[in-house]
Amino acid sequence: MPMIVAFSLSGAPGVTTLALALAAAWPEPVPSVLVEADTSGGDLAAWRRMPTSPGVAELAATARTDETATAAAAPVLGCAQVLAGGQRVCLAPATADRAAGAVDLVSHHPEVLRAPGAVGVVDAGRLAPRSPAAHLAAAADVALLVVADDLAQLKRAQAALPALRTGVEKLGLVVTGARTSDAQVQEALGMPVLQRIPTDPRSAAFLRGESGLARPFRRPLLRSARRLADELASTAPQASAVEVSRG
Ligand SMILES: Nc1ncnc2c1ncn2[C@@H]1O[C@H](COP(=O)(O)OP(=O)(O)OP(=O)(O)O)[C@@H](O)[C@H]1O
Ligand SMILES: [Mg+2]
Repeated sequence: MPMIVAFSLSGAPGVTTLALALAAAWPEPVPSVLVEADTSGGDLAAWRRMPTSPGVAELAATARTDETATAAAAPVLGCAQVLAGGQRVCLAPATADRAAGAVDLVSHHPEVLRAPGAVGVVDAGRLAPRSPAAHLAAAADVALLVVADDLAQLKRAQAALPALRTGVEKLGLVVTGARTSDAQVQEALGMPVLQRIPTDPRSAAFLRGESGLARPFRRPLLRSARRLADELASTAPQASAVEVSRG
């Protein structure tokens, strides 16, 4: 099953939010696991008042100790917790000093992120050349560059795109906010917008665990995440099913 890696280049355009929304919106019956692989530390444990263990630190330990760790063993599911509402999450330590080493190790063993029959949505945080996020994006079935549509972030994306395109085979552009049109972004970046994620503070607060929502998937943020999930689910390669059947 596919591994989707979301990342930013600068600012805080909403990578963690998008990754969580995408995992939650993945079409049934395929289970999804969100993996927080941000070297600067995870946010979800604080948002949801959860421990960070088991999580990416334990996943990194399996990558280090178990050379035979394969997709069939699905260590990422063994290192996942379940959010209220049922979403599986593999959380990063909250601080950079503890997260960086673990994420670096996982980025060099991306096979530990794959689970047969499940989709992995990875929050890789901010990407710099040769960073763990760059390794993860290169290993992804689809890598999603998340950019807020402000001038600074669009300029940064424009400058980084040529190098990114050489390192990432399948790259999609996700734009958060609505200050510019898709056509303007496409003209500036020379790349179409795969999905626009609207500004939706109520859904963002819901995903942070701060408030309830009666019908979250009717709200703009999760509705657009669902459109993206449907699109990715219909186009991403079903790689692990083939690997598993090969034995
Ligand atoms: N579509 C949105 N509408 C409204 N608020 C949003 C949206 N996406 C994210 N937010 C809010 O903006 C803040 C930053 O979002 P988030 O943590 O997802 O960004 P990030 O890119 O992961 O940042 P960082 O690089 O710090 O990890 C959070 O408070 C989040 O709830
Ligand atoms: Mg984040």
